[in-house]
Amino acid sequence: MKRRLLLLAMAVALCSTSICAQTNEAAGVELFGKHCVACHQADGEGIPGLAPPLVGALKKVAEVDLGRTYIAQVLVSGMAGTIKTRVGKFTGVMPSQATLSDHELATIASYVLSTFNESQVALKPEGFAAVRSKALPPGEVRKLREQVLAQIGGQ
Ligand code: HEC
Repeated sequence: MKRRLLLLAMAVALCSTSICAQTNEAAGVELFGKHCVACHQADGEGIPGLAPPLVGALKKVAEVDLGRTYIAQVLVSGMAGTIKTRVGKFTGVMPSQATLSDHELATIASYVLSTFNESQVALKPEGFAAVRSKALPPGEVRKLREQVLAQIGGQ
């Protein structure tokens, strides 16, 4: 019991240093590798005609409230229909990732933002929990994307 408490105290202490950020990064790499890589590829560039690039797609999006809601919705609800991206149009289906926990989704989203979008924004598990009760049909998520892009003036 004492040993467990000691380990917990050590973990908390480590988390206040940069090691914790590295652990999140490693967790992000692993989760992204398991759940996203088949379509979006390890470098986040996607597959022409199949999955859009995540690189450079979300920096401005993550800076506004509606954009952060959109990112959470894409992961929780999925998305379907034609979208315009910097490399052309895609008509695809992004499957819902709602079987992952709020914590896992937050880790993946924050990884995608920092690694592929040079963004400092970190999404919190609470944001995903809030969206779960308001999950949208995939076609509606695409409309939300259009609203966000209109608000920020494009990707
Ligand atoms: C089966 C393939 C597939 C998988 C697996 C997948 N995606 Fe997607 N993703 C897509 C497609 C296709 C779209 C575009 C949907 C459309 O055309 O409406 C998309 C769109 C997105 C977008 C919106 C990009 C933008 O420009 O607005 C994000 C963000 C995203 N995916 C993140 C992820 C993450 C993170 C994972 C892993 C948890 C993941 N995706 C897993 C296929 C996939």
